[in-house]
Amino acid sequence: MSHRVLVSALLRVAFATVALALAGAACGKKADESRPAPAPGSGSGSAAAPATPEKTTIKIGMVASFSGPFADVGKQLHGGIKAYLKQYGDTVAGKKVEILVRDTTGPAAEVAKRLAQELVVQDKVDFLVGFGLTPEALAAAPVATESKTPMVIMNAATSIITTKSPYIVRFSLTLPQVSAPLGDWAAKNGIKKIATMVADYGPGHDAEAAFTKAFTAGGGEVIDAIRTPLANPDFSSFIQRVKDKKPDALFVFVPAGQQSIASMKAFDERGLAKAGIKLIATGDMLDDHGLATIGDAALGVITTHHYSVAHDSPENKAFLQAYRDANGAEAGTPNFMSVGAYDGMAAIYDVVKKLDGKIDPDKAMELFKHMAFTSPRGPISIDPETRDIVQTVYLRKVEKVNGELRSVEIQQFPNLKDPGK
Ligand code: PHB
Repeated sequence: MSHRVLVSALLRVAFATVALALAGAACGKKADESRPAPAPGSGSGSAAAPATPEKTTIKIGMVASFSGPFADVGKQLHGGIKAYLKQYGDTVAGKKVEILVRDTTGPAAEVAKRLAQELVVQDKVDFLVGFGLTPEALAAAPVATESKTPMVIMNAATSIITTKSPYIVRFSLTLPQVSAPLGDWAAKNGIKKIATMVADYGPGHDAEAAFTKAFTAGGGEVIDAIRTPLANPDFSSFIQRVKDKKPDALFVFVPAGQQSIASMKAFDERGLAKAGIKLIATGDMLDDHGLATIGDAALGVITTHHYSVAHDSPENKAFLQAYRDANGAEAGTPNFMSVGAYDGMAAIYDVVKKLDGKIDPDKAMELFKHMAFTSPRGPISIDPETRDIVQTVYLRKVEKVNGELRSVEIQQFPNLKDPGK
């Protein structure tokens, strides 16, 4: 392709994107909710909307990665949504709930943004949900702002995400929230020299900063800070580097899924535990879904996180049952992402009920901001100042419970806001 042809192609894409955004802003989505969405490719629908009966559905557009290296993220999030629908039904305030699922194949920021735009402009969704990966949540944030669509973050965990749009609310976690208590605990529990290893993007940088701040404030010393590439990291070379430096312990954040399994395998194969190097991590590395695959190498490892399937409460029992009923035994054990999605759905249902099925985005955000309920993870609420989650973080240890590996909660840090803001 010549330079001229390439430039003109790029310009066409840019114009199409702007046109889509303007259509979103101008089409009066919120005032025009009762109009059925045009079929894809059926034109812009410029004729005046006829008076139609009140809208009968609540449309929820889900954007997440369902294929590629982060396919587990989409599956976990969708599994949590399905569990909620199984338990509470697919009707709320007399309206049928419709979930429109879109795969980013990510991490793919631009695809996530385009899918969010299409869901808003063409499908006229009332809520955007999903967002397992930080780059995708950040890319979609302007779409929420421009179209005034409440955007419920069900996993993405970099601190700044909620600052990127007044229409964002988060029901998952932030990495500083779970990393700071672990830094504090490590300094108080005989670990003097540590190496850190984090995925080299937003949540990893947040984890590294919050852990290091708390650990050094407690008198600890970080002797090596490793950042691993987000795409195809070779953990064994990094883990060997840690072994050679002989710290007392290694702190890890990697995104849950393939990377947690691969990093734990490298730690095991390189014999760090035998060399006397302890492993401590955020719960992403030893997430409940991956634990069975990781196996006994995880026994005894200390992590901090906001959810464990071992959490003993009626709400968690009901969630686990609904998850199994909705997804089948073959889906395996749900993890924290499924819970973030399940809670996000609970919040949406509450908002829809309180608005009697008529979704006004600003009223919806006010309701989200004052939300508080008991989740399968324990008590949660939303900080009205930041629209971010406030919750208990747990210190956990991997043990065998009835023959299965579980992160058993041994200490609580209640009512934690995101210390990253
Ligand atoms: C993120 O991209 O924000 C993310 C992904 C996976 C995790 C945590 C955070 O386990």
